Amino acid sequence: MSLPNAAVTQEAMASFATAENPRLAHVMALLVKHLHAFVAESKLSKDEWMQGLQFLTASAAITDEERNEFSLFSDIMGISSMVDVVSQPEGGTPSSVLGPFHNHDSLVRPNGVNLVQDQPGDKVWFHGRVLDVEGQPIANAQIDFWQNADNGLYPAQDPAQDPQNLRCKVQCDAQGGFELLTIRPQPYTVPTDGPVGALLAASRRNIWRPAHYHVIVSAPGFVGLVTELFPQGSAYIDNDTVFGVRPGLVVPFQPCQDPEVAQRFGVDGPLLEVSYEFRLARPA
Ligand code: BEZ
Ligand code: FE
Repeated sequence: MSLPNAAVTQEAMASFATAENPRLAHVMALLVKHLHAFVAESKLSKDEWMQGLQFLTASAAITDEERNEFSLFSDIMGISSMVDVVSQPEGGTPSSVLGPFHNHDSLVRPNGVNLVQDQPGDKVWFHGRVLDVEGQPIANAQIDFWQNADNGLYPAQDPAQDPQNLRCKVQCDAQGGFELLTIRPQPYTVPTDGPVGALLAASRRNIWRPAHYHVIVSAPGFVGLVTELFPQGSAYIDNDTVFGVRPGLVVPFQPCQDPEVAQRFGVDGPLLEVSYEFRLARPA
């Protein structure tokens, strides 16, 4: 004879079997199975359940076009990173979290653009290629790049910055090559003024992310890549509050030895260099 809690679980799982989309029926049944197991194992009290509902209600209240507390919750729970890991195509560059500061309206700038102009920060020549998983160049791939400024803030957090500051789309050349001049990114904290911040504080968790560049790489006929590059040795590289750091995405920022590069970008003073080869997979 079934135990009553097992019967509730079975019935709730089966209730999704009517879905027209079989994948929806499958995923929802599994979600019910694991959530019920969590309630049973933790012996969740009514007060705790109510606190959970209040957390979701407060998250909804603070969420708008500019800010999504549910997405941040997914990030700090490691769910976004788990989705990245389980959907990783074989042989491609590891993906990493998108974060809330991507801007679809980023401008297409010439390959070789100088994004620095006269703002503070250590200047960095970021260059590389886009290849397929066999190492063949992908002609005319697109790089969508964004990062924070030297004060640790993105334009959405800092009215003093132009909305297009330190971001661009660049069309790679026929050999998949790209280059741009930017600055070293800085570590920063995830937004902590909402219910997720309260949860992090109650849990005495780190609120910082290591410094990173965000990059979306796309090319017709290939699976798009959303990823990040992390400077070797950055603070919090071993303790990213959203679990985005993966082997293969940590890169050295080395002094650039080629004086012709500094000359080409009109830079005097020190110049750092980051070189990276992104690998895109074809759809399975
Ligand atoms: C970011 O990289 O900008 C970010 C990612 C996840 C949560 C908050 C910020
Ligand atoms: Fe970021």
